[in-house]
Parts: sequence; structure tokens; C-alpha cells
Amino acid sequence: MAKKDVISIRDFSKKEIEDMLKLAEKIDSMAEEKRLKLLAGKKLATLFFEPSTRTRLSFESAMQGLGGSVIGFADANTSSTQKGESLKDTVRTVEKYCDVIAMRHSLEGAARAAAESVSIPVINGGDGANQHPTQTFLDMYTILKLKKKIDGLVIGFAGDLKFGRTVHSLALALSHFNVKLYFISPDSLKMPQEFLDEIKERGTNYIETENLAETIPELDILYATRIQKERFYDLAEYERVRGFYRINKKLMESAKPELKVMHPLPRIDEIDYELDNTPYAVYFEQLANGIPVRQALLCRVLGVL
Ligand code: NCD
Repeated sequence: MAKKDVISIRDFSKKEIEDMLKLAEKIDSMAEEKRLKLLAGKKLATLFFEPSTRTRLSFESAMQGLGGSVIGFADANTSSTQKGESLKDTVRTVEKYCDVIAMRHSLEGAARAAAESVSIPVINGGDGANQHPTQTFLDMYTILKLKKKIDGLVIGFAGDLKFGRTVHSLALALSHFNVKLYFISPDSLKMPQEFLDEIKERGTNYIETENLAETIPELDILYATRIQKERFYDLAEYERVRGFYRINKKLMESAKPELKVMHPLPRIDEIDYELDNTPYAVYFEQLANGIPVRQALLCRVLGVL
């Protein structure tokens, strides 16, 4: 049987995405006792070469919630990477200690390279500005849970669309459905052309704009993102675009009452804290969905369920 990895959302058909979301729902509704047996005796290694809070901890919590155990590092400076060991040798070592690897790396393509070096499944928890497929599954799961459908929705992405890997993966996944997309960003942080071309090829309508306030009334979902400071070559340019959008109660005055504001988090200053207690804010509910969704992914790649 072919090895299963989760590297790019491009590797999943519409049906495979839908099946994974159904599996997450099934696991979510399972009795704890049953769930704890699913991956008993299996080990996950989390190799995080870049900072993370939600992705790593939810993977670890997800694995433990299925009866499995976890090894790994949250800071590559404490691993032999610091001594100059290659990624290839690191993962070839780690595969001897575990059954599945979840990793994050600053280099685009790192997860694919790791997957090609080992015979156990590798799950990409973010590679540079490229892809973040597991976040996409939890974002899709959140949208489905809140809106009961994906077809027909108008979804706006706002913020750093150039470097935001969560946007790249999610927009590709959504383009399998009948949605209308708005890409809202400062000119220097527009969605890369390669992604726009793919989205268009699938027949998805999209509009690019800088103007969030004008777009808000159209939206069913606003997917806000952080300006990805660590990916800027020129910090002066970061200073020019930081704080470009402020999502607050005032902005919501022209929104549909059922608009939902999502964010992969962490936020910096793009969403005011005052929004947190309004019905618009769903970002904490969104991150909680990372558990059943990552449990579904772990089960799938390990051939359980
Ligand atoms: C995102 C990431 O790492 O790409 N965070 C996450 O996984 N929830 C978003 C970000 O860092 O801005």
C-alpha cells in the first residue's frame, strides 16, 4: 500500500477533503473510551523547526486523546540541527523512534523532502510561506459546522495573502466548491499569481481589493490573517503595512448579522479584543476544531478508520 502523507492540500481531491471532514465529525462524536483505543501503542514525533503554539500542541493533544504517545522538539536549537545535521538525517533518525511525524519548517518544500526520505507518514504543519494543509482541514471543518454548507458562500481573506500559508491552502481547497472569494490586501501583499491561476482554472470567481470596509457587507466569512513579519526581506516594508487593517466593532456595523470572523491565530493587532465577545468572533472555536481534525488525519495516515 502506498505511504500516506499530508504535505499539500493539492494532493487531496474534493472527495478526499469531504471524507476527511466526515471522519473528523465521526471522531468528534465518539465516546472517549472508544477514542482512546484508536491509536493505542502508536507514537507521534512533532519536529518543529519554527515557532508554534496551536499546531504543535493540538497535534500532541490529538494523539494523546487517541491513546497514542508523543515525542519531539519544539525548538530545533535543542536538536542536532544546531550541530549541522541535515533535515534528511534528522528524519531518518526519528523514523526509528515513532510511527508518524508532524513537522514545521521555514523552508518551502521541507515537508515534501522529509517525506521522501522516510518510509513512515509525514504531516506538514507548515512549510515556509507555502502550505499549511492541516490548518485548512480545520478551517473547512469550522466553516461547515457554522454554516452547514460551503457552496454558495462569499468568503473574504484579509491581510498578508502573499506570505500567509494558511490562505494559500484554504483558498485552493475552497476552489473545489461553488464559492465567491475576495482577496483583500495591501498591494504589496497580494495573493501570489500561481494560486490565483489555479483558483481560476477551477472556475472559481474571485475579486482582489485593498478595501476591507467596502467589502465587509458582501461577506459570509471573513478570514483575517497576521502580517507575516518573519518572512519580510525588508523590515521597512513591514513597517509600512503593519496595522493596515483593524477589525473591530465599528467595522462590523456594515456586516451581515451572521458574518463569522475567522483567524488561524496568532493575532497581532488585526482583530481588536473587543470583538472577542461578539457573535462574529469564532477564532477560539476554530482552533478547538484542530483536535478532531488532526485526530482524523492521524488515523487516516496510520491506516485506522
Ligand atoms: C499560522 C501559521 O503558522 O501559518 N498559525 C497556525 O498554524 N495557526 C498563522 C500565522 O502564523 O500567522
